[in-house]
Amino acid sequence: MNVSDDFLLAGVMGWPVSQSRSPAMHNYWMKEHGLTGSYVRLAISPDGLQDALRALPSLQFAGCNLTIPHKRAAMKIVDEVDDIARKIGAISCVIVRRDGSLAGTNNDHYGFIENILDLEPNWRADAGPIVVIGAGGGARAVIYGLVHRGAREIRLINRTQARAEALVQEFGGPITVLPWEDRHDALEGAAMLVNTTSQGMIGQLPLFLELDKLPVEALVTDIVYIPRETPLLEAARARGNRTVNGLGMLLHQGRPAWKAWFGIEPTVTPELRAMIEATL
Ligand SMILES: NC(=O)c1ccc[n+]([C@@H]2O[C@H](COP(=O)([O-])OP(=O)(O)OC[C@H]3O[C@@H](n4cnc5c(N)ncnc54)[C@H](OP(=O)(O)O)[C@@H]3O)[C@@H](O)[C@H]2O)c1
Repeated sequence: MNVSDDFLLAGVMGWPVSQSRSPAMHNYWMKEHGLTGSYVRLAISPDGLQDALRALPSLQFAGCNLTIPHKRAAMKIVDEVDDIARKIGAISCVIVRRDGSLAGTNNDHYGFIENILDLEPNWRADAGPIVVIGAGGGARAVIYGLVHRGAREIRLINRTQARAEALVQEFGGPITVLPWEDRHDALEGAAMLVNTTSQGMIGQLPLFLELDKLPVEALVTDIVYIPRETPLLEAARARGNRTVNGLGMLLHQGRPAWKAWFGIEPTVTPELRAMIEATL
């Protein structure tokens, strides 16, 4: 542990940050492990990010998570960015090191994979073609995770095709970009479908995707978690597909953060999942 044992501190920096479910989760773990400390929301504007991050060591923070809009900007501020965060192109977690320097990593890929394995223990990334819709920051973490779990074929489809092509240029690997208009047909023979767009999120239109060609054996997952069941997941479940919602991605990415901050690896229990789900 690289921080004061007296009162453990960590938090999430975002702008806005009031919507974040992270405090409820981390403070649950604090209580569960009998620790004295707090995980707090930090409303930090983009202009204030550098000063806020640099203040963490003197405030005795073990580190922090980053959410919209700070994940990319923080890469230029911290002292060291690990290979995973560099590849994903974003930092989700900052660790204050013993000497007061700041290390940046990204645990979203881990959260994505662990959430699936938690709810579908027999899932394998190499079971068949995987269709990924979207090519933003979330997609980069998802694709990083899938490739590292041995995915053999990823069909990547994004409204802005050039963004998907740029992602493939950087990542390489078994990824084929398909045009947005072909997304319905691209589901044929797929073993898994992942929505990483913001479509289906509260306040947004549902993702328009015809599921007719998707095998009923395919697993369907959405990284959007508000609402807990997006229209896509609801439609997939109604036609007999197994579904996994996005909340567990958020929950599981917290585990390696705790390991790095406090030397403890907490668990995602059904009780924790239900508690956070009740707030959605
Ligand atoms: N569960 C978790 O832990 C977790 C983690 C990260 C993100 N998320 C969620 O994932 C979602 C995406 O986040 P992000 O960070 O990847 O955002 P982002 O980097 O801004 O990317 C947004 C993605 O959505 C697509 N999109 C936006 N509006 C669209 C529309 N009208 N039609 C079709 N596609 C559209 C974008 O396509 P273009 O490139 O064409 O604009 C892009 O692929 C958010 O809801 C976020 O809350 C969840």
